[in-house]
Amino acid sequence: MPQAFRRSRRAAALELSEIVRISEAAKGLKDSGKPVLSFGTGEPDFPTPPHVIEAARQAALAGDTGYPPTQGTAALRAAIAAQAGFATVPASVIVSTGAKQVISNAFLATLDPGDEVIVPAPYWTSYADIITVSEAQLVPVRCPAADGFLLTPEALEAAITPNTRWLMLNTPGNPSGAMYPAAQLQALAEVLRRHPHVWVLADEIYQHIAYQPFTSFCAAAPDLAARTLVVNGVSKAHAMTGWRLGWGIGPEPLIKAMVAIQGQSTSGASSISQAAALAALTGPQDHLAARNAEFRRRRDFTVSALGGIAGITCPEPQGAFYVFPSCEGMIGKRTPDGATITSDADFCEYILNQGLVALVPGRAFGLPGHFRLSYAYAMEDLREGIARIAAASELLN
Ligand SMILES: Cc1ncc(COP(=O)(O)O)c(C=O)c1O
Repeated sequence: MPQAFRRSRRAAALELSEIVRISEAAKGLKDSGKPVLSFGTGEPDFPTPPHVIEAARQAALAGDTGYPPTQGTAALRAAIAAQAGFATVPASVIVSTGAKQVISNAFLATLDPGDEVIVPAPYWTSYADIITVSEAQLVPVRCPAADGFLLTPEALEAAITPNTRWLMLNTPGNPSGAMYPAAQLQALAEVLRRHPHVWVLADEIYQHIAYQPFTSFCAAAPDLAARTLVVNGVSKAHAMTGWRLGWGIGPEPLIKAMVAIQGQSTSGASSISQAAALAALTGPQDHLAARNAEFRRRRDFTVSALGGIAGITCPEPQGAFYVFPSCEGMIGKRTPDGATITSDADFCEYILNQGLVALVPGRAFGLPGHFRLSYAYAMEDLREGIARIAAASELLN
């Protein structure tokens, strides 16, 4: 008699994410012929620049098709170090299969059961899951809209314990779009100087999608470089989510430990994607400003259109391509069917079924009472989708 399948403890702890749940519900409605508009995805709707695709083609034709070095090709690591925006060297760079794998490598290489990771909420959902897989403890710190969704030095100080290993800092942030000004990064660094056991993982993947000046944590606090890992990649800036190419820049002992972990999972990132990323970093950059301008136009429209709906408050994000409005004003209202909206998840479910618009509830990001809408979609879709959210919201009383 074969034994029933049993998941490992670490796999069992991973729940179906709220984002997956919403996408599946939206897909179910779509499959039944309903014209659902989904604003759930975190990827640019632009194509990868043609010169990047051409570089990949040339690399494949030139025979760059063997196993690449696990840490990343020397040429790509040199280009990454050269454009980092702070002093670093190629030996401090690891290239991975997406920024997500960089984070996963870092946590698998450093965390033991009992270790804690401080994560300002709202946060990208995968942080929580990767911490779970690494068998460590997520320590979420509420960063409400009133604080601009930013971690304050006081809240950081209060969250640090002897078990803290990492502080996650994501700027511009997913889902809030909030950006840390240099002065606030310096104020956080001041706290960290008093706690030398705490390392910083600065996720700067949205660096180039920013509507105000960007400061890297490493530029704000270069004296903490020996315990900082900066994560970045080509996914968002160059519309290359499917190429799966990201990198980490950090102190060499950490990078070596991460290379050891990666060497036993995926090995080096795809040789063709590395050639493409090299072209993205060293080739023309004009698409960055052009796309930023388009994202900004969509942000301005989205913030003003959502802000016009009674019950929704939409702060203006400074970067990335998400808004994270409050739907607290909808809680307690009744739907035409007589159900009561008791949470952000109820509101999103109602908007999906009544308005045929897929949004992600804030509780997925550790800050209930909100929802996330990605505006990396065509303007016509945003116009139509927000009109539907408004019409469905008006039916609540
Ligand atoms: C904050 C943040 N970090 C990292 C990633 C992952 O990037 P990649 O697609 O390069 O793995 C994402 C993707 O959504 C993200 O939102």
